[in-house]
Amino acid sequence: DKAGYKHFMAKEIAEQPQVLSDALNAYLTEEGIALPDPGIDFAKIDRLTMVACGTAYYACLTAKYWFEQLAGLPVEVDIASEFRYREPPVLPGTAALFVSQSGETADTLAALRYCADKADKIFSVVNVPNSSIARESDLALPIHAGVEIGVASTKAFTCQLNVLLLLALKAAEARGRLTPEARDEILKGLRALPGTFNAALDRDEVIAGVARKLAEARDILFLGRGLMYPLALEGALKLKEISYIHAEAYASGELKHGPIALIDKHVPVVVMAPKDALFEKTVSNMQEVMARGGKVCLVTDAEGAAAAGQDVWRVVQMPTVPDVLAPILYALPAQLLAYHTAIAKGTDVDQPRNLAKSVTVE
Ligand code: M6R
Repeated sequence: DKAGYKHFMAKEIAEQPQVLSDALNAYLTEEGIALPDPGIDFAKIDRLTMVACGTAYYACLTAKYWFEQLAGLPVEVDIASEFRYREPPVLPGTAALFVSQSGETADTLAALRYCADKADKIFSVVNVPNSSIARESDLALPIHAGVEIGVASTKAFTCQLNVLLLLALKAAEARGRLTPEARDEILKGLRALPGTFNAALDRDEVIAGVARKLAEARDILFLGRGLMYPLALEGALKLKEISYIHAEAYASGELKHGPIALIDKHVPVVVMAPKDALFEKTVSNMQEVMARGGKVCLVTDAEGAAAAGQDVWRVVQMPTVPDVLAPILYALPAQLLAYHTAIAKGTDVDQPRNLAKSVTVE
């Protein structure tokens, strides 16, 4: 049931304030984070290995920044199909974490089985609580996204990020890495996030306007730094999945190392950059793009919009949130850009060609 929406994807995008709030109700109480006991002392492990495919892999890449910066815990992230055949050493002191919406992705399940007798603990972050990946884990944390039907993952991604951030905060607590003030500021922002998300949904029309232009492009680049780099990857994946436009994401700092050769007036560049500590560096990357005729669509907050300068082609202005939360909020414009570009191209948004919702064979 599409509940009045044209597509499941539109419905699932719009459901995000509600499902984020469901997950926060499940995992956040007045006292703080109420995740089930992970059965492992985060202070004692040496590293976390995270493995997934597709969008879930980008959720892991985002979480790497959180675990490392907030908890000081070294993290390796791998694509399941590479991990399972590379057969990497899994040393004592390793916790392994598998992220999967369906909980049935063949490569992710095989990677989990590879780790089963090697890692100290097997965790998973899943949307389907009785899935194979959940059943074979020591602890499975449901993301509370509800059924996701659109082949392009949307609400599952933001709900994965939500739970992964809570887990990173839990690890930070255990490792004594975060001041109570810093922790409370993040938790305050998280509690407000469903409302912030709701407010941000009204950027829909501005984004649709940008998307109608993007639909004319053959190639589109996405750029981001730090926490916004995995989000740029997710934005490019979403766009290519449903609009069939070639989209590629790079860490902004990599621009000079190759991709800048692609820039001309026909290649729009979507830059994901709230006004965080790395913003100035991203502005100089944008200038390099604009100096070569590239059209920049900047997704940023009020301060970023004011500082961006006149030459930016389009600005999508998001509400201001603590830096740590930006990847969750900025997933929304990434999803809406893909959605409206696909609509402008007339492609099948919910059932894109060649793709299956759950990849249960290699
Ligand atoms: O069910 P999973 O989370 O394990 O699925 C992983 C990927 O197949 C999935 O995220 C895929 O990349 C989506 N189509 C992305 O929109």
